[in-house]
Amino acid sequence: MLMRLSGPAELDLSTFLSQLKPDLPTSTNQGAGDAAFQRWFRVKEAFSPLFVRDVIAHLPHPPSTCLDCFGGSGTTALTCQFMGIAPTTIELNPFLADLIEAKLTSFDPRAVAADRLTIGRTVDAIEIDLAAIYANAPPTLYEPGAGGRWIFDIDVMKRIAQYRGAIAELANERQRRLFTVILGSTLIHLSNVVINGKGRRYRGGWQRNRRTARAVDVAFEAAYDNALFDVSRLTRRAHPGYTLLRGDARSRLTELNGTYDLVLFSPPYPNSFDYTDIYNLELWVLGYLSSGEDNVSLRRSTLRSHVQIKREASMPASPSPTLAGVVTALDEVADRLWSRQIPGMIGSYFADLEVVMRECAQRLTPDGRIAMVVGDSRYADVVVPVARVLAEIGEGLGLTTDRLQVLRPMRASAQQGGEHLLSEDLLVLKSA
Ligand SMILES: C[S@@+](CC[C@H](N)C(=O)[O-])C[C@H]1O[C@@H](n2cnc3c(N)ncnc32)[C@H](O)[C@@H]1O
Repeated sequence: MLMRLSGPAELDLSTFLSQLKPDLPTSTNQGAGDAAFQRWFRVKEAFSPLFVRDVIAHLPHPPSTCLDCFGGSGTTALTCQFMGIAPTTIELNPFLADLIEAKLTSFDPRAVAADRLTIGRTVDAIEIDLAAIYANAPPTLYEPGAGGRWIFDIDVMKRIAQYRGAIAELANERQRRLFTVILGSTLIHLSNVVINGKGRRYRGGWQRNRRTARAVDVAFEAAYDNALFDVSRLTRRAHPGYTLLRGDARSRLTELNGTYDLVLFSPPYPNSFDYTDIYNLELWVLGYLSSGEDNVSLRRSTLRSHVQIKREASMPASPSPTLAGVVTALDEVADRLWSRQIPGMIGSYFADLEVVMRECAQRLTPDGRIAMVVGDSRYADVVVPVARVLAEIGEGLGLTTDRLQVLRPMRASAQQGGEHLLSEDLLVLKSA
């Protein structure tokens, strides 16, 4: 483990970017999964660092401050650190917030390696009582599960809990966070489920292919190796500081006193993918959730981009003729929608983003830009052209469109009507 430390020289932004496959298009947010830091944990619709760099390169002036209200895996903030831009990030999901913070923290690799040795020495002796640790977790979390299904085989769950216990005993809080993230990054691989476009499903033949405690040791060591390699090598951050706010962007934004040259974010798309639900395993297994109420309250704080949790509907205050037409069209096909909540959810989605855009506009420097990556949705035959609606809402907030660019065609999910191509766009707004 320590041998890594005398390895490659410390490297900088260009190396960070060169980790990406050279044939990648530079203007989408796809394909950066194996790059340094990105590989720690895969978040759906995560930016690539090259994309962040491209957006910054198109600004009229190099920014010195940048705000991302929907941090996800932290790509905006991390790229900004390497480019010498002060990053501020907000993220609701506490595991993802820890992932972001672990990436933005500069570690002493020798101290990290020493803690890895401590975990190796203590983990076998950690006594665990799964029934007590996971008293309120969903019954399918581990074997024997419920209804003949379980997400973790029992030996795997026990070993993971031992690692969790060993990490909890580390004295250094930042390193505890890093090792928690490392453990979290192994969980899907160690489980009996996979995450696909729409959610979680059991792997084919999971009952036959049982995973072992040894698989936990191997996965933890591999994830640790990657993380140590990245934190040891990519150390030259031109701006090592960061601001991270945990919680709901709609309320936390109001607490920010700074101004921003660039606001860059990608909110969840109005396609009924609930990030808090999909990335729920990490939350339960690592102890971020300890009751069903915790879970509901976290899910209630998510942007209203899905109908899985029922909430009051509302419409944005700023006029959008396109949105009015979409909601009317959805009402007309109400009997063909898979949920009666969909028209209300669409209006509410834009009401939430209006709140976010208003708060961001108030904190924009005079020549600043708000850049958003958004994806269209389709319900029955009705397409929701998200960027166009946001551009109209922006006008009501005193913002004008600087750039509207198609990034890639997206395939609609089966629930959204299958085959049809929808667009994912970059919308850049500036003060009118
Ligand atoms: C599309 S992802 C962002 C991906 C990010 N650009 C990246 O590069 O990884 C959207 C994120 O918004 C977060 N989110 C959802 N509702 C939120 C809210 N109300 N406040 C803050 N973050 C929220 C989700 O947890 C998810 O991580």
